[in-house]
Amino acid sequence: MLKAVKLRTEYLENPLGIDIEKPRFGWNLEGDGKRQTAFEIRAAHSEAALADSEIWSSGKVASSSMQHHEYGRKLQSRERVYWQIRVWDEEDAAGEWSEAAVFEMGLLERADWKAEWITGDYEPKAGQRYPADEFRRVFEENADDIASARLYITACGIYETCLNGTRVGDQVLTPGVTCYDTRNQYQTYDVTQLLKSGKNTWDISLGDGWFRGKMGVFGYSSVYGDTSCVIGQLEITKKDGTTSTIVTDAEFAWSNDGPVRFNDMKDGETVEGGKLPSYSGNAKVAEWDSILCCSNSVPVLEQETLMPQVLVTPDGSTVLDFGQNIAGYMAFSVQGHAGHTVKMQMGEMLDEKGNFTVKNLITEDTTPDFIPDCCDDTRFQTMVYTCGSSEREYWKPKFCVQGFQYVKLENWPEEVKPEHFQAIAVYSDMDVTAKFRCSSKNVEKLVENTLWSMKGNFLDVPTDCPTRERAAWLGDAQLFFDTGCYFMDFTAFFRKWMRDVFDDQAPDGKVYNIVPRGSEHGGMNEFVEGSSGWTDAGILIPYRYWKHFGDTRMLQDCYEPMKRLAEFMVSRMGDTSDSELDKKLEPSEYRQYVVTTGFHFGEWNEPGSTSMDVTLPKYEEATAYLAYSLRCMAEMAEAVGKEEDAEKYRDLSEKVKAAYQYYFMKNDTVDSKRMCQYVRPLALGLTDERSLKNVQEGLSRIAKESKYHVGTGFLSTPFVLNMLSQSGDTEAAYKMLENEKYPSWIYEIGQGATTIWESWDGIASRNHYSNGACCDWIFHTVGGIRIAGENRFEIAPVPGGSLTEASLEYQSLYGKVCCAWKKEDGKTVYTVEIPAGCEAQIRIPGYDVRVIEAGSYTFL
Ligand code: BGC
Repeated sequence: MLKAVKLRTEYLENPLGIDIEKPRFGWNLEGDGKRQTAFEIRAAHSEAALADSEIWSSGKVASSSMQHHEYGRKLQSRERVYWQIRVWDEEDAAGEWSEAAVFEMGLLERADWKAEWITGDYEPKAGQRYPADEFRRVFEENADDIASARLYITACGIYETCLNGTRVGDQVLTPGVTCYDTRNQYQTYDVTQLLKSGKNTWDISLGDGWFRGKMGVFGYSSVYGDTSCVIGQLEITKKDGTTSTIVTDAEFAWSNDGPVRFNDMKDGETVEGGKLPSYSGNAKVAEWDSILCCSNSVPVLEQETLMPQVLVTPDGSTVLDFGQNIAGYMAFSVQGHAGHTVKMQMGEMLDEKGNFTVKNLITEDTTPDFIPDCCDDTRFQTMVYTCGSSEREYWKPKFCVQGFQYVKLENWPEEVKPEHFQAIAVYSDMDVTAKFRCSSKNVEKLVENTLWSMKGNFLDVPTDCPTRERAAWLGDAQLFFDTGCYFMDFTAFFRKWMRDVFDDQAPDGKVYNIVPRGSEHGGMNEFVEGSSGWTDAGILIPYRYWKHFGDTRMLQDCYEPMKRLAEFMVSRMGDTSDSELDKKLEPSEYRQYVVTTGFHFGEWNEPGSTSMDVTLPKYEEATAYLAYSLRCMAEMAEAVGKEEDAEKYRDLSEKVKAAYQYYFMKNDTVDSKRMCQYVRPLALGLTDERSLKNVQEGLSRIAKESKYHVGTGFLSTPFVLNMLSQSGDTEAAYKMLENEKYPSWIYEIGQGATTIWESWDGIASRNHYSNGACCDWIFHTVGGIRIAGENRFEIAPVPGGSLTEASLEYQSLYGKVCCAWKKEDGKTVYTVEIPAGCEAQIRIPGYDVRVIEAGSYTFL
């Protein structure tokens, strides 16, 4: 019999505060049945009433599907729904009812909000920074009467809120980041237990965050506005059913004389220990107009904590080494005398002499145009703390996040002891879904480093790095998507971010290279916007999301904006206004399908490239991406029933492909010294039966000639191992994977990397996940597991290289699937586990291809 487990509402476990009109349910199965043949869901307003299906029952529905089943009733604001499920197996035997799950709706109408946005009582000057705002409201309550209480709250800035001195919830850096000029996401907290009888105190601290602090590539501040503000609504439901509501308004007391004198996401905080706000003034009502919504995503939480080793570096500095490069912050305690000031700077590396440095993140040598605001006062990733007394004092930052492994301490007033410091990793709370082991410590470490880089860059939006730019670059995200699918459950995370991406869509249909870009003021020069490979993320992420998670609602929700984006991309073909064009691309009937306009980053960071390469035309890259994205559009159009569009995109894609072949694959082959020019046509499906073999052979040849070094940049690195394997040269892929010499993945590990580096030599950011996008090859070719549709896997491990064993456990959307192999006594033993309700096609060397159902198998 089968039992449903891992119940999820819209990919979230018992979410409190969602606003998806028709939430969908999903589950996995446990038990000795093989297949689900039917299910029944029932729902009620309390757990006790579930047995009576108080508000809804789906009835027995014949289906093997475990995901995306819509709740069948219209929902109200604040409605709390318990649900549970039972399933029938292949014998038509009904299993027991599952444990109950629950979800609660947020405030669905703007009219539900009685609260007003409030801000501090001062006139902020453009570009100037201010201490954190402190708001307070005191009110009377009788706790005995309270049945439940909810707090709905968000900010333009970062808020932290307390009720009666207790911090509300465990989320940090709230409310996270959205395109604030379009939408603000609020959090919903159950605060029933925090209220008391008599006088209650509600405090809110407000920092600058992404809204007013430095943001993005250039580190501009105030990109969304100068007036940070907060809105909150505390709703108390009494046992007799009545409610009382306390809202942010001009009744709140306010001051900005609390401990946080300066705060910035990038630059850190300046804190005066022991200082208490006076709340001597009053809040002002602020004007802010945007959609108030739920994130419907996972919260940002504190995660791993690390203790340091204390180093004295050759230049005599005291430096903490946490042993792992992370994104987060450092909590510390210090004992000095009142007025003693300490300084802590966070960085990713020690220089060649072993001294602390942030030159890989801000020096003018390597990044001449980056973050000028940060360079002018050397205030970058720095905490400054002044002791308020001679007692031991503790501080944990709340308005900043930093990328670091090392912390340089200055002016520390006492012996530096590891137990006085704690590095706290902070990221979106996604479940880790892959457990990979193998006989090569280097390969294992590469996988581990990639996971750490993912953790370091998935903070409400996917950023390139947590240090220098901290920008949600679209290219990095789309290139990493297939790898990320294995590592962590980012279903809810990407749904949220795709909404951001389209919130910021330009009138001409393009999506920006970075979203949220920080309004027009914080964005990049319009000229570089819409780069191929970056803007395409607006099409490729929904496409891959749908392929991997079978979620058609993602396609429906994104279809119209994706279509506008596709039209924008198409509009860049065939422009002949460049008077030099004939010299670069000879005229032909095909030229109208080549992308000849727009700025494109191209490969980016390709070994041997120079910074000037970015100025070269990128016809090849852009045309390849256009053909590919249009093909994906055609498939998606078909999936949502837009036949006409599907035909149009398919036809156009074929024409663009033909043009690509005409110009860039002359004589049905590629003639280039650049590895990417073999990888790209293979990866994006631009070859045909005449050219396929030639290009595959070309790739194998160039890999061999390069002595199996990685020769690709951003755009092709994710595919290079896959394409070698598809060319029938998996051994070459293993050689490249295991290559210890520069440029290679393992070279970084030899240099002590604990995360993935931006450039193969490590001179730039050291926490850039995108080059870790080779891990999907490790997972599906070494580990042998691939999603092949709903409830279906393909198990096809290919042992190779120096590896004598490997194993992968993958907690997929459809359940946990495992594959392991081990070479023993000249034989390879394979073990496979398929979860209940699923099946897999097995392709194991030496065995017939066949389909197996749920169960454990050994192939000797
Ligand atoms: C970022 C990348 C980004 C790129 C555009 C860099 O500065 O760090 O990750 O995708 O610019 O090519």
